[in-house]
Amino acid sequence: MSQHLLLPFVILAISPIPGALQDSALSPTEEEHEDLDCGRPEPSTRIMGGSEAQPGSWPWQVSLHQRGGHICGGSLIAPSWVLSAAHCFVTNGTLEPATEWSVLLGVHSQDGPLDSAHARAVAAILVPDNYSSVELGADLALLRLASPARLGPAVRPICLPRASHRFAHGTACWATGWGDIQEADPLPLPWALQEVELRLLGEAACQCLYSRPGPFNLTFQLLPGMLCAGYPEGRRDTCQGDSGGPLVCEEGGQWFQAGITSFGFGCGRRNRPGVFTAVAPYEAWIREQVMGSEPGPAFPTQSWEPQPGPWEPTDENCTIALPECGKAPRPGTWPWEARVMVPGSRPCHGALVSESWVLAPASCFLDPINSDLLPRDLDNWRVLLPSRPRAELVARFVPHENASWDDTSDLALLQLQTPVNLSTASRPVCLPHPEHYFLPRSRCRLARWGRGEPEPGPSTLLEAELLGGWWCHCLYGRQGESVPPPGDPPHALCPAYQEEEEAGRCWNYSHWSLLCQEEGTWFLAGISDFSSGCLRPRAFYPLQTHGPWISHVTRGAYLEDQLTWDWGPEGEETETQACPPHTEHGACGLRPEPAVMGILWPWLAEVHVAGNQVCTGILVAPGWVVAATHCVLRPGFTTVPYIEVYLGRAGASPLPQGHQVTSAPPLLCQTEGGSWVLMGMAVRGSRELFAAIGPEEAWIAQTVGEAHFLPPNGYPHWPPEGSDLCPPDLARASGSPQAALLLLLLLLPLIQG
Ligand code: ARG
Repeated sequence: MSQHLLLPFVILAISPIPGALQDSALSPTEEEHEDLDCGRPEPSTRIMGGSEAQPGSWPWQVSLHQRGGHICGGSLIAPSWVLSAAHCFVTNGTLEPATEWSVLLGVHSQDGPLDSAHARAVAAILVPDNYSSVELGADLALLRLASPARLGPAVRPICLPRASHRFAHGTACWATGWGDIQEADPLPLPWALQEVELRLLGEAACQCLYSRPGPFNLTFQLLPGMLCAGYPEGRRDTCQGDSGGPLVCEEGGQWFQAGITSFGFGCGRRNRPGVFTAVAPYEAWIREQVMGSEPGPAFPTQSWEPQPGPWEPTDENCTIALPECGKAPRPGTWPWEARVMVPGSRPCHGALVSESWVLAPASCFLDPINSDLLPRDLDNWRVLLPSRPRAELVARFVPHENASWDDTSDLALLQLQTPVNLSTASRPVCLPHPEHYFLPRSRCRLARWGRGEPEPGPSTLLEAELLGGWWCHCLYGRQGESVPPPGDPPHALCPAYQEEEEAGRCWNYSHWSLLCQEEGTWFLAGISDFSSGCLRPRAFYPLQTHGPWISHVTRGAYLEDQLTWDWGPEGEETETQACPPHTEHGACGLRPEPAVMGILWPWLAEVHVAGNQVCTGILVAPGWVVAATHCVLRPGFTTVPYIEVYLGRAGASPLPQGHQVTSAPPLLCQTEGGSWVLMGMAVRGSRELFAAIGPEEAWIAQTVGEAHFLPPNGYPHWPPEGSDLCPPDLARASGSPQAALLLLLLLLPLIQG
């Protein structure tokens, strides 16, 4: 919404349009108030997903200004009356003074008004007594102008429907306005009036859509006096700044105002059509307010007899739209996989995000020496898409403005010369809205991203599982900070995945993209950069912060609402988590504060051996658990038994029947910095005697690589006498007996029960 727009009122002396600026043609003649000509634009003839209107094609559209800026729309219903939405004028329950407002009539582009444009002061604002907030209905207002509007070809009133008027479901109507063209994306200069065709949705159909949980599990109850218009698949809608503007439908050559733009959930979202105030039910209220004013608004009789009948089924079937993005026939064959070929450099892997746009790291197109963008002879650039025999030509290249200095913004968009027809073989990936919350334990996969050696076989099948926000956030050194709550963009996303070294090689790709799945739909959740060669649970930059930029540039990328809301047992407590205040050793030995659902010791693992024995294990790195040898290898066993490791639930759930715990808990001590340190593992058969971990440091370090060891000076401090944190005679335990430890390499790190 253009907040502080100034309107230069220049009256240009151009050849006058016949009839323009003349009140006479439509000036009130006695007894004619019921016949005030309405709803007829001069023959000649955003809103999201719409297009620029013909100047003068919606002559009743007005712009309501406050402090020099457009705030809301409205419609002229009589020379001295404008219909709009109550919520434009009510803040915190109080009606704003009429003197703050002015009405602009006959405008098209708010940057350079036509000579038909004129402004009127507002004498009074009238709002129904029962209006309190948009979701509760009665969202309409009447504005009495200080002096009548100058009617003419570009300034004409709209017809109002009588209470008995019926607009058939499915009717194609039009909404108009100067509002945002997408969520948080204001209409660009020259602020020309936008129009969009919207279909009236039946009450049942609309209620059905809004009854399906959407963002934040919200549902909404449609009330009498409300009306929905739009499409289950979204993409075309009104948006912020369109409020108060009209939704009009043509009947027999005359336009009637069916609705007033009121609200919606976001803009253009799937299964979230716009909600309008239905005008017909307010006939009596409107008549009452304008009583005595001549000429008043026109309420022409509907030219056809409204019949209760087939257009008003009581039990309308719900047509839910399914996501059009993110469907992969098989994981690993990504229908959005795009390879950008630039002469002289290696192919760059990106992702198709709409019919016409590919997202890829900007660093693919930066000169590695000076970080400048490569010379852009787009003519020679090609994009290869799956199942498309010929390479696509590139029309436009739009790097992110921070791309060359900010790793988190290493993004560029490439527009294809010809949009691709979406099919199962080529379709875009879904992108998350800024408020998306990928649930901990979401199923994710890594895919190629950026430049890399051609890899034989299908794009990587690396499976990963998302770590919770606490782990990810605190792991990467944000001590003391609070973990971003669900709904706030996270600083990072951490997938835990299988170590690639295990497969005997490191991938030649230095960048990765993180795809996460919700209800079978894949989202591009994050991207990672060059940090350290082989894979390990590193942090991915969340892509959701870039959704607005991507939709701004592409005007049609598939931003999709969150599909999974099943929080699991940890649910609510994610709200108030903070990272521990201080540590020099990364995230090892830190616990969520407050504890998450009884998980006091996040490194504690249940090691299930051969289906019935349970030992205690300690997570020492994302892929490694240390356990006592005697616990895992029993006399008589010659091979390693079948072992399963459960993390994140130790002590939380009762053990399955028939399982027995075969080892005592390990010994942990807390350092001054707050980190907990594994000091020893209980020796076989004892609950008091521990085998020290210290002597095994070299072996653990060598095997695991990523375990954190305390530097000699960081040794646990001994708490005051009488505290039972660490027995002061621990020193006796170290050294003897010899620890018999076993490291378990987890196949899929952090599999939780
Ligand atoms: N309340 C908004 C305004 O004040 C209008 C939003 C309409 N939103 C929608 N998704 N249809 O401008």
